[in-house]
Amino acid sequence: MTNNNIYFVANWKMFGDVKSVNSLNRVIKLTKSKKYKNIKIIYCPPYTLLDRLVGKTKNYNIDIGGQDCHFDMNSGAFTGSISSTQIKKLGCKFVILGHSEKRNEGDTNFIINKKIKSALNSKLNVIFCIGETKQEKKRNKTFEVLKKQIFECLKNIKIKNNLLIAYEPVWSIGTGNVLYHDDLRIVVNKLKNIVKKKYNKHIKILYGGSVNTKNISELKKVNNIDGFLIGNASRNVNKFIDIIKKSSN
Ligand code: 13P
Repeated sequence: MTNNNIYFVANWKMFGDVKSVNSLNRVIKLTKSKKYKNIKIIYCPPYTLLDRLVGKTKNYNIDIGGQDCHFDMNSGAFTGSISSTQIKKLGCKFVILGHSEKRNEGDTNFIINKKIKSALNSKLNVIFCIGETKQEKKRNKTFEVLKKQIFECLKNIKIKNNLLIAYEPVWSIGTGNVLYHDDLRIVVNKLKNIVKKKYNKHIKILYGGSVNTKNISELKKVNNIDGFLIGNASRNVNKFIDIIKKSSN
C-alpha cells in the first residue's frame, strides 16, 4: 500500500457514550506527528456523539461522519431519522451509506441511491459500502452483485472526489474471516476498473470486515487499497492506533 492518503474510518456502530470521547486524545496526539501526515482518520460515531466529536477534533486532522442519513435532505416528518443537511450543519464531512447492516434493515439499492444523492447535495463526502454475502460468494456471484450495487446505487450520480467505495464482504464483517493477498487485490482492481470504465473516474477503495491488529500487516501488503473501514477494533483506542501504526510502517 502506498502511503498516499490512507484512510482509517472508525465505524462505532451502535456503541459508545460520552466517556468514549476521551479515547480520541491519543489519536489526536498521533495526528500531530509528521510521520502520519498522509493518513486521513474519520470517526463515525452514533448520532448522539457527532456534536461532541466534531467539537473535540475541530482543530485537528480528523474528520467526523454519520453512519447513515435519510434520503430527504430537507426537514420533514420522519420520526427517528436524521437528514444529510443536519449532519452537515453539525460540522461533519462524511456519511457512511449502503452499509450491509442498514441493507439488512431494509435499505435497497434504490433507497441508497436516493440517500447518496441527498448526501452529495448536502456537500457531504460519501463512504459507499458494497459487499457480497457468503451465499453469493459461494455461487460465484461476487462481481455480479458488486456491479449491480454500484450501478444501481450510483445511478444518475456524477462521481467526483466526494465518494469513496468501501468494499465490505458481508461474510467478513464481525467474523474474523478476511479476504487477503491476490484475492483481495483482484477484487479491488476489478472494482476500480468497473468505476473507471463506467464513470471515467479513478475511485478510492477501502477494505472493511474484521480488520484487526493481527491481520493488518498482511492486509497492508495489498497495494491497491486506499484504506480501511474498521468496526470492532476501532472502538478500542489501543487497537485502532496499533492498526494505524502497523499500516504506516
Ligand atoms: P468489523 O471490523 O467489526 O468486522 O466491522 C466492519 C464494519 O462493518 C465496518 O463498517
